[in-house]
Amino acid sequence: MVVNDLNVGLLREDFPILKRKVHGKDFIYFDSAATSQKPSRVISTVEDFYRNQNANVHRGVYQMSEIATEKYENAHRKVARFINASDDREIVFVKSATEAINLVAYSWGRENIGPGDVILLTEMEHHSNLVPWQILAKEVGARLEFITVDDDGELNLAAIKKLIKGNLKLVAVTHLSNMLGTINPVKTIADFAHENGARMLVDAAQSVPHLPVDVQELNCDFLVFSGHKMLAPNGTGVLYAKESILGNMRPFLGGGNMIREVKLRDSTWNDIPWKFEAGTQAIAEGIALGVAIDYLEEIGMEKIKLYEGHLVELAMERLSGIDGLVMYGPPPLKRGGLISFTIRGFHPHEIAAALDYQGIAIRAGYHCAQPIHEKLGISASLRISFYFYNTEDEIGTLIEGLSSLIKGSSP
Ligand SMILES: Cc1ncc(COP(=O)(O)O)c(C=O)c1O
Repeated sequence: MVVNDLNVGLLREDFPILKRKVHGKDFIYFDSAATSQKPSRVISTVEDFYRNQNANVHRGVYQMSEIATEKYENAHRKVARFINASDDREIVFVKSATEAINLVAYSWGRENIGPGDVILLTEMEHHSNLVPWQILAKEVGARLEFITVDDDGELNLAAIKKLIKGNLKLVAVTHLSNMLGTINPVKTIADFAHENGARMLVDAAQSVPHLPVDVQELNCDFLVFSGHKMLAPNGTGVLYAKESILGNMRPFLGGGNMIREVKLRDSTWNDIPWKFEAGTQAIAEGIALGVAIDYLEEIGMEKIKLYEGHLVELAMERLSGIDGLVMYGPPPLKRGGLISFTIRGFHPHEIAAALDYQGIAIRAGYHCAQPIHEKLGISASLRISFYFYNTEDEIGTLIEGLSSLIKGSSP
């Protein structure tokens, strides 16, 4: 199938898992927002590293280690270019988006946020961009404020000024909500943060894998994302931070690699980004993140965004024909490639378990975003999330599956 110039049939050939059967049925994967599938090129990069290249980085003067170091550092350069960072040193490899946010909360937050200061979040944050700030706020006596979400699943930005009653220090917002699908105007929010003397953190875990993201254009101070949601192995995540900020932050983890000189009672720190990469990192996986980026760039992020927009529009139109089905979040043009919904009279887990028997994997629960579910008055929802390897036919199979489940259960 070729849609918007994207040869999906050909791309699917690169993903061995998509050829699998589940319960005897073709496997249909609609949970890429949780983690993406991996192309053969990424899988074989990891295998090749352990077969032919395995050595630690930044330590050996022997050839194996030097090559491993060059490949690992090159992966940082690829990430920097991918999100248009102005300097390679602004890219820290961590194990997940979650770790990146905790790093900022610990190293920057504990130095810069104090009693009575305000951290501004939104009601639609993933727990990863909520809990670390709750912990910090409790510890230092800071206050959390929240930009509310309106009935269309968008942020109430008109009311934002009223929330700043104290000393605003940080605004931390998701770029693309993993529950509502909303794409937030993070550039506008970053401008607001800076006008009020605060720093801006963007949780880009759901945006960097699916649309072009340019950190200089967004003018954010911090941006985080996870590699495993963008074709790379687990254990890969990225913290971007402006060099002027990162250079002044205290270390997060102490140990090997992050130091320049160590005495018995004192130490000095390595240059950024290595100051924040203590101990042995996920080297093969980090190199494979660079390969995943090559792959995404070959397709083109703009094309991926357009294609997923097409799938979302189609799926929302088809889902709206199902009796009792309620979708949450904005219309297709304002959202990324995911849709959360409930079906009257059915528990989400019941539906997801029944679809599994048809080979269809969809998410049920609160997707690590419990507060927004509570706001919507629901305890859980179903979520389908797309990547460029999903097809119109798969959406057709899902709709048939849902329709027959609902009919099969009606009296
Ligand atoms: C918006 C958002 N932020 C953060 C995360 C956390 O990512 P990770 O589990 O890779 O740390 C997720 C994962 O689902 C997410 O969707």
